[in-house]
Amino acid sequence: MHKIKSWVIGNWKMNGTAEAARILAASVAKASAGAPGHVAVVVCPPAIFIPAVCDALQHTNVQVGGQDCHAEDSGAFTGNIAAPMLAQAGCAYVITGHSERRQFQHETSEEVAAKAFAAIRHGLVPVICVGETLKERESGKAMEVVGQQVLKSLPDGAKDDFILAYEPVWAIGSGLVPRPVDISQMHHHIRQVASARTGRKENEIQVLYGGSVKAANSREILVLDDVAGVLVGGASLNAAEFGGIIAAAAA
Ligand code: PGA
Repeated sequence: MHKIKSWVIGNWKMNGTAEAARILAASVAKASAGAPGHVAVVVCPPAIFIPAVCDALQHTNVQVGGQDCHAEDSGAFTGNIAAPMLAQAGCAYVITGHSERRQFQHETSEEVAAKAFAAIRHGLVPVICVGETLKERESGKAMEVVGQQVLKSLPDGAKDDFILAYEPVWAIGSGLVPRPVDISQMHHHIRQVASARTGRKENEIQVLYGGSVKAANSREILVLDDVAGVLVGGASLNAAEFGGIIAAAAA
């Protein structure tokens, strides 16, 4: 299968200071400097650090993303951030439906679709996250649960302007990673469902893997045919680890 791109996306979550964010961004830029064109490196800092990070990444090949956006463009939504604000600040991507938001902010797939639609309206590429819990996997429902999440989290009219990320909830921050065969099987399933939903060709649907990706295991994940890249949490906060993952994508 022809891979269009290898994405390496760092999700910094709620970590760091403005100064640490600037330093980390500069290190990521350095690690990405020689990367071939098919490698797309993106960092998603906490929203308040986005301007500083965009500033630090000017004239580099690293792009910036938000960690979430609201479905509406503006209004009385205290504490939220709108897609056009992210776009104006210099973001090109936004993560939507991360499992931590589904879990702690009780976001539904329908809300995730509305957020992804807002992102697309404003020229941002939504990275739409899906993934089963351990209980769902153990009861043999992983494919069904993830398939439903894909169907409902994709906005109507989504074409080639979205990326999906398979992040099993039990693999996030746990050091546990599914077997390569399980990742491939799920990514294949996600591509089939997303293709049927959007009318896009199956091999044009981009699915990233996320959950305990480190420099040491990134190559064996990135070489899988159905994997278009990785979404990295913890290891993206460590410049050397994240640099190792960028190097694996570039190899
Ligand atoms: P992790 O997180 O790499 O720390 O497991 C991944 C994610 O939540 O995107």
